[in-house]
Amino acid sequence: MNNFTFHNPTKIIFGEGSLSQLGQEAAKHSNKALIVYGGGSVKRTGLYDKVVAQLKEHHIETFELGGIEPNPRLATVRKGIEIIRSNGIGFILAVGGGSVIDASKAIAAGVPYEGDVWDFLTRQAKPTSAVPLGTVLTLSATGSEMNGGAVITNWEENRKLSFGSIYTFPKFSILDPTLTFTVPADQTAYGSVDMMTHVFEQYFSHTTDTPLQERLCESIMRTIVDNAPIAIAKPDDYAARANLMLCGTYALNGGMISVGVQGDWASHGIEHELSAIYDIPHGAGLSIVYPNWMKHVYRERIERFVQFAVRVWDVDPSGKTDDEIAMAGIQATREFFTRIGAPATLTEVGIGDDRLKEMADKAVHFGPLGSFKKLTSEDVEQIYRLSL
Ligand code: NZQ
Ligand code: ZN
Repeated sequence: MNNFTFHNPTKIIFGEGSLSQLGQEAAKHSNKALIVYGGGSVKRTGLYDKVVAQLKEHHIETFELGGIEPNPRLATVRKGIEIIRSNGIGFILAVGGGSVIDASKAIAAGVPYEGDVWDFLTRQAKPTSAVPLGTVLTLSATGSEMNGGAVITNWEENRKLSFGSIYTFPKFSILDPTLTFTVPADQTAYGSVDMMTHVFEQYFSHTTDTPLQERLCESIMRTIVDNAPIAIAKPDDYAARANLMLCGTYALNGGMISVGVQGDWASHGIEHELSAIYDIPHGAGLSIVYPNWMKHVYRERIERFVQFAVRVWDVDPSGKTDDEIAMAGIQATREFFTRIGAPATLTEVGIGDDRLKEMADKAVHFGPLGSFKKLTSEDVEQIYRLSL
């Protein structure tokens, strides 16, 4: 196990009815709040009105920035920064999924920064402060509700990049599983794939002597496998939605399952290039790419893939070679993603082979990708080709 520091300052308020605590939490930060939301689901479900009522009750003046795109865009983030600066707003409330929360984090860090917020994404600058931010989560997937990371797309340049900072951890996140009852089946599937792959990124590692972290990862994976199909078949199943919500939050919150473990994150880089150009949902891209990354790298530490197959997918190892066991686990992963309705090939989502090399080159822009196997542009291109 490696040395580590783990500090997560986000207060999680979980459960049905937890929205009632929003006003008092928000009031701790400012009497002027910018409510950030997406393409309209929060208005259709009535959540927006409830949020505004809570803030008004606590004498908070509200401003709004709607229309955050899935795969949120830099231009929209810049708009948010402008609204905050020109109105002296002291608090941001993100109401939505990962895209809304990520855009809010970029706005939060961009406001006090003199340069352009894109500098954080291109790693030319690091945030040194941020406007405080809170979230009301409406989709279980990214873990953005309890981490400091954000992923932003510069649509003009077809670049999708991430940054992370201790300043952009939400001050609090309201996690009411009933707010995810309206998430459609496809987004529930993509979200489930996303959280599953967050666990993969931290589980397929060369770090040794980490039995607790491995078993925590395996528990989360098995819980997702059990609960995603239930939430898809019966969208208002509270237990399934609650379990998925907790899985998403645990899967990527700065370290709860992965302290002391070297993570990989190559597949996320490979996927981000797809959504940067083709604007596909993040979880759909991961569903296509991840099992192919597995096939490309599993021999780097085959015993971890054997463990994965046996402990997560109940593959019977008797009479099989390590290679066969590992491949059975990879196949089970693919079948699970397909069973819940996530795509398996680039072709299915309308992506051809014309820009694979360009995406592979961009994916390694900051250097070789990942750590389980350090991927070159050629490796990445091969994984895209396997995914066609
Ligand atoms: O925009 P609205 O109308 O709200 O609709 C959204 C959107 O169309 C809809 N939705 C959300 N909650 C709903 C709902 N529809 C009905 N009922 C509800 N309760 O779902 C659609 C997708 O929303 P989005 O926020 O884009 O999904 P997700 O949470 O999967 O976020 C994806 C973004 O997060 C980034 C991804 O790259 C992508 O840009 N990621 C962020 C991470 C982080 N900050 O830690 C890590 C991840 O690996 C990921 O890269
Ligand atoms: Zn992800």
